[in-house]
Formats: sequence, C-alpha cells, structure tokens
Amino acid sequence: MVKVTEKRLITAALPYVNNIPHLGHIVGSHLPGDIFARFCRLKGYDTLYIGGTDEHGTPALLEAKKQKIPLDKFCTTIYKEHKKIYDWFNISYDNFSRTSKPIHHELTQEFFQKIKDNGYIKEAKIKQFYCEQDKIFLPDRFVEGTCKSCGYEHARGDQCEKCTKILDTLTLINAKCTLCSNTPEIKESNHLFLKYDKLSSKLETWLKKQTHWRPQVLNLALAWVKEGIKERGITRDIENGVKVPLEGFEDKVFYVWFDAPIGYISSTKEHTKNWESYWKEDSKIYHFIGKDNIPFHSIFWPSSLIANGEYNLPYNVVGLQYLNYEGGKFSKTHKRGVFCENIPKTGINPDVLRAYLTFVIPETDDTEFKWSEFESRVNSDLIGNFGNFINRTLTFAHSKLNGEITQPKDLEEYSEFNQQVLEKINKVEELLEKAELRHAFQEILSLSDLGNKFFNDQEPWVVLKQDENKAREILYICSDLCRKLAILSSPYIPQSSEKIFNILNLKENPTKQAIWETSKEIKIPKKHKINKPEVLFEKLTPEFVEEFKKTVAETSDLKDLF
Ligand code: 2FM
Ligand code: ZN
Repeated sequence: MVKVTEKRLITAALPYVNNIPHLGHIVGSHLPGDIFARFCRLKGYDTLYIGGTDEHGTPALLEAKKQKIPLDKFCTTIYKEHKKIYDWFNISYDNFSRTSKPIHHELTQEFFQKIKDNGYIKEAKIKQFYCEQDKIFLPDRFVEGTCKSCGYEHARGDQCEKCTKILDTLTLINAKCTLCSNTPEIKESNHLFLKYDKLSSKLETWLKKQTHWRPQVLNLALAWVKEGIKERGITRDIENGVKVPLEGFEDKVFYVWFDAPIGYISSTKEHTKNWESYWKEDSKIYHFIGKDNIPFHSIFWPSSLIANGEYNLPYNVVGLQYLNYEGGKFSKTHKRGVFCENIPKTGINPDVLRAYLTFVIPETDDTEFKWSEFESRVNSDLIGNFGNFINRTLTFAHSKLNGEITQPKDLEEYSEFNQQVLEKINKVEELLEKAELRHAFQEILSLSDLGNKFFNDQEPWVVLKQDENKAREILYICSDLCRKLAILSSPYIPQSSEKIFNILNLKENPTKQAIWETSKEIKIPKKHKINKPEVLFEKLTPEFVEEFKKTVAETSDLKDLF
C-alpha cells in the first residue's frame, strides 16, 4: 500500500507594510508558525509554511501619502525590509509573497465571482464622508472629530482612543479630513455585502465542532456568532486594493480584510503547481495570528470560504495574545521596545533571541518582555542547563577520551534512563502536535536537565581513572542524548542544532524532513569519534545587554529608507 503523507499548510498573519516589525510581531505569529512548521517537517508531514505582506487598504496608503512616496515604490521597499528581518530570524517560509501581485488580484476576483454565483452577495447603498478637496470617499481612519460619547476632540473615525468606543464614523461631531483638514460632506454610494444571515448557521455548526481549538479563540468566535454577526461591506472606495470585477463598481476595490486571507491561497499558488492539493484535498490548515486578528480568521474568513465552497476551512486558528514591553506597550515614538531593523548590528545569535522569545510566546495570556529576565533566562535556562549539558558532554569526550565513544555492550544497564528519555520525547511530541510550543520547549529543557543529572550521577571523571572503556560508554549515552536534543530543539534553535550535529560528526541534518522518529532510537554508530567542540552560545553580560538595549530601541525613520 502507498503511504499517503498528511499535508499541513501553515500560515502566519500577513503583516501590513506601514511599519517595520518589532519583537511583538515576530513572537505574535512568524516565530510560532515557524516552530510549528519546522516540527511538522521533522515529523515527515508534507508541510508548507506560507506568508507574505498585506499591502492593501488604508495602512500602507496612509503611510505612503505621509512619506510622499508613490504607493508601489513604498510597498516594495517595506516588503524588502520585512523579508530581510524574517530571513535574519531564520523564519522558514516556503513562500513569502505580496498581495499586490497580479496572481493575487486574479485569484481574489475569481474567489469573489464564485461567491457571487453561489448567491451570497448583495448590494446596498451606504452613506460615507467624501472630501471635495481630495476627491475621495474617506476611509474611517482618515476622518477625525469629536467623539459623541466622551467629548474627546481627536477621535478617529473607526475608534475613539480616549474612551475606546468603536464608532460609527458618521456620528463624529466637527468631522475633518485628516489629509487636508477640510470638512467632508456626506455622500451615498453603492457597496457589496456578504450575506452573513445566510451563512451564520453553517458557520456556527462548523465552529461548534472545533473543540480542538484553544478555548480563548473558540469562545470568542462563538460569542460573536451568538451576538449576531453584523453585516460587513466587502468593498471600499479607495484606490489601493483589488478591483471589483462588476459593472458599476469600476472605481471600487475589495475591503482589505476580504482579500488579505485569500493571500494565503495566492501565495501557495505562486509557490507550487500542486497548490490545490493543500487547499482542496485532504490537508490540515493552521493559521497563526495575533489576538486582534481572531474575529477575522474565525468568523469572516471561514464565512468567505463557506460561501465560496471550493476550499478547505482552517483546521486550527492558533490565536496568540500580546507581548508587552516592560509593563506597557511597545512604542516606536517613545523608543520603548525591541525594534527589529537594528538587531543584526548587535551581533547577537538569532537562536538566542528565538529561544528567549519562546519563553514568552503569549500562548494563553499576554506576556512581558523584560530585560532582566532576558539576561537571566538566556544565561540560566538556555546556556546553564541546555548548553551546559551539550558542552560538558562534548568537551569531556573530546579532551579526556580523544573524542572516542563506544556503545555500551549491555544497553540494559541504562534502560531506566533511556526509558525516561523516551517518555520525555513523547511528551514533547504530544505538546508540539497541539502547537503548545512554549510548554514543549520547557520539556526539552527538562530533558537536558535529566542529562545533567545523569552526567553528575555517573561521574565519568571518576570512572575514567579505573575503567576508560566504561567512561567511553557513559559518554556514548550522553552524546546520544545530545543527538536527540539537537533534533527536538531544531524547530526552536535550528542553527545551533546543526552545530551540535557537526560536532557529533554526524552526516545528516537535524532539520531534515522526517528525522523526528529517529530521536527515539539509539543512533550513533557503535564505535564513533566526535569532532572538536565549539561554543554554542555566548553568555550574555550586563554590558552586552546594555549596548544591545540601546541599539534596538532605535528605529529608522521610514523616510530614510527612500
Ligand atoms: O493585522 C494585520 O497586520 C493584518 N495585515 C493581518 C492580515 S492576516 C491575513 F488575513 F492576511
Ligand atoms: Zn480632505
């Protein structure tokens, strides 16, 4: 019988191109998606990790206008900056596309056409602010005025920053266009809507079956449905987006949240001619997203998919919470945070940052980036525990035994230890399957802790004096655990695991497709010689951290990029 490999398509939220990412963005989707995708490859699943930039709607438009740069040039430059940063972090995207590409525009139009043919689109007139001066219908964020609830004079059209109420733009008092400060007028125009009333019972039935989702994501989605989903227009009167292929709608584009998730499909299509097998055949789709994107991925995107009818719905919407910065929010203006563009300059090892970020992945609650914790967790957990076990094993074997290790004649003697190791590996696997990435990493560290205890209990430095061969056997068991740890940790610290394999003088690669199962076996050749060890991680000193902190608080002014 032919073995069919399970397909897994993993996506991370497509970032807007109105800014350069900070650590909150990395830990909020790109990194967790990457860890999970790397694990899926190790397990042998037919995996694709898909991403790209979300270049439509007001965010990019507003920023490009502010910088007085043509929109396409602006987006291209920021796209490249994003890509550079994800590459530095070794985010293993199989494709990182852009929603401005023709392939995406065409697919969005086809996607819409199918929804329309299925009878899920209706037309209605809506009133909106129109600026005579700028000759445009103003998106909500382009209008400012007094909030009728709290009297705050600079409330934005979509939300009042002071009282946090979501506003109906038309209720703003003394509304002003934020582009030219003139008073806009109210005009009527025709728009398209998805018929949520026709979709909501199907959506609810589907949602109720998603009991494997994280409760905070599922509960939020179910609460929305229960409240009754408000109609949402899927078209907008702006210049930046995918054109609506319908008579009378020539000047309109699709709402950015209608086309953005279709970007997951078009990025897959751009990557492989086999794209349909990930979207239409048996496969599991995982969306890694931040908290604010949960409604869009658990309600609106599945609704579009149901209405279209041709594609699979997500298997899991992995919604993450926020990473805060030292008790507050990341703030570019106040230079509070870790901004990514200058990180490479500091010379820090990407794996060190990946590991620290793993400790603070906001999986269930908001988490906090703290400088003191950054230093202590890297030094004690990553280096003092994990690094220490690898280092002492490899250094001892190399310097005291000339690197020569031998498989014990009687493996039974170590069976209790090997059993404990196997249990830990299974536990890590179980957690990773559920995308509990942070907890799984803790288990990996507790496995290296087990290794440290074993090393201490076996006292190879004492054994060596009486029985060199026995010492080679102990070091064989420890080195084999190093191999296992390198495989298990490769989704988190890929470069370091490759280094461990090199020192172990093993020809394969710990990031290789389907290598995971071999971590459950004793795999190092019976008689083996390891290479000269090298340091895996440099300890963080207070001076380094101080310097690092200064460098990464600086953000480039976007205009300097042009
Ligand atoms: O919040 C954001 O940055 C959006 N650009 C996320 C879009 S996710 C997906 F739908 F593309
Ligand atoms: Zn104006």
